[in-house]
Amino acid sequence: MSRVYIFDTTLRDGEQSPGCSMTMPEKLKMAEVLVALGVDILEAGFPIASEGDYEAVDAISRQFPWVQVAALARACTLDVERAAKALTKAKRPRIHIFIATSDIHLKHKLRKSRQQVLDDAVAAVSLARNYTDDIEFSAEDATRTDPDYLEQVSQAVVEAGARTVNLPDTVGFSVPDEYGELIGRMVKVLGDRAIVSVHCHDDLGLAVANSLAAMRAGARQIECTINGIGERAGNAALEEVVVAMKTRPDRLPFETNIHLDKLFGASQTLTQFISFGPQPNKAIVGENAFAHEAGIHQDGYLKNPATYEIISPASVGVPAGRLVLGKHSGRHALKDRAEHLGYRLSKQELDVVYERFTMLADNKKGVRNDEISLLIEEVIGVSAQAAITK
Ligand code: KIV
Ligand code: ZN
Repeated sequence: MSRVYIFDTTLRDGEQSPGCSMTMPEKLKMAEVLVALGVDILEAGFPIASEGDYEAVDAISRQFPWVQVAALARACTLDVERAAKALTKAKRPRIHIFIATSDIHLKHKLRKSRQQVLDDAVAAVSLARNYTDDIEFSAEDATRTDPDYLEQVSQAVVEAGARTVNLPDTVGFSVPDEYGELIGRMVKVLGDRAIVSVHCHDDLGLAVANSLAAMRAGARQIECTINGIGERAGNAALEEVVVAMKTRPDRLPFETNIHLDKLFGASQTLTQFISFGPQPNKAIVGENAFAHEAGIHQDGYLKNPATYEIISPASVGVPAGRLVLGKHSGRHALKDRAEHLGYRLSKQELDVVYERFTMLADNKKGVRNDEISLLIEEVIGVSAQAAITK
């Protein structure tokens, strides 16, 4: 199995997106959770962007000296020096330099020629080498860049001392086979002189698929965030990437250092700190990710969870598989839930409770445990005979 490095950017790309800003104590707590989760590189901020980002990089570097901490910088002296200063206390500092390489960014945003951008990239990497030998270079908007020029820039920054070359799908424009081809080409060109990294945005809902296609093509670092937060539609979701690798080693023979059983906890901690949680049907960490409502599904699941579950909830830290009882649920699931709630029902009692349950469920999105208890107690009364634990 090949080792793939997980570069977490929850505290940089994630934190800079709407509704996701965090206070310093929250950033420190989140960093602690990410370290315990086992991320390899923790991008702690963009020091030139704000005092808060500078302080976060500095504080995280002090608190977690054994961790590889990254700080973002544009390809210019001011940014590189600010990033280097924020990382002074880091034992394993990484300066992450970026500049856009696509013609559309060069023409409308940077107003620079290809040669100027190439020179800026090389100059920034050379400057950063005075502070650390762990330099990552990102060619922003790589997927809309002329591949020949991208190759030229990648070669030049590696010559100047970059050890990681990141080729972001900044605007989430690429599709898996195309991205895989681009990554494969750059892996071939750079050989073992640099690690090729990927950083995918989810504008077309393809961030995870693109990242995995890139791994198959030879990339060995994935940039991602908890719950997939990040600019616009977000970044590749860390939990989805690592669980896909774990679940499909036949197709994705890669290893990471992530402790899968801490994924749900990490997602919950982040949700506490920002203004939104993952959508209910979000893979791995969403509220319904392990919920089964349809009667046929519930029946199969109760007989053997593997009929409808490809991942065990416990393996990713989800407390227990939950059956949502609703209008599609069958008697079997209701009986099971009743027992879970402490009621042993006779066949006749179950029939009556089930009839009333379906009437209630018809008018609701889902029936809660306390409503089920109430219904049972109305039908059978709370008798010592009916209740086994109450
Ligand atoms: O999306 C992007 O291109 C970025 C770079 C700064 C890596 O976030
Ligand atoms: Zn990004």
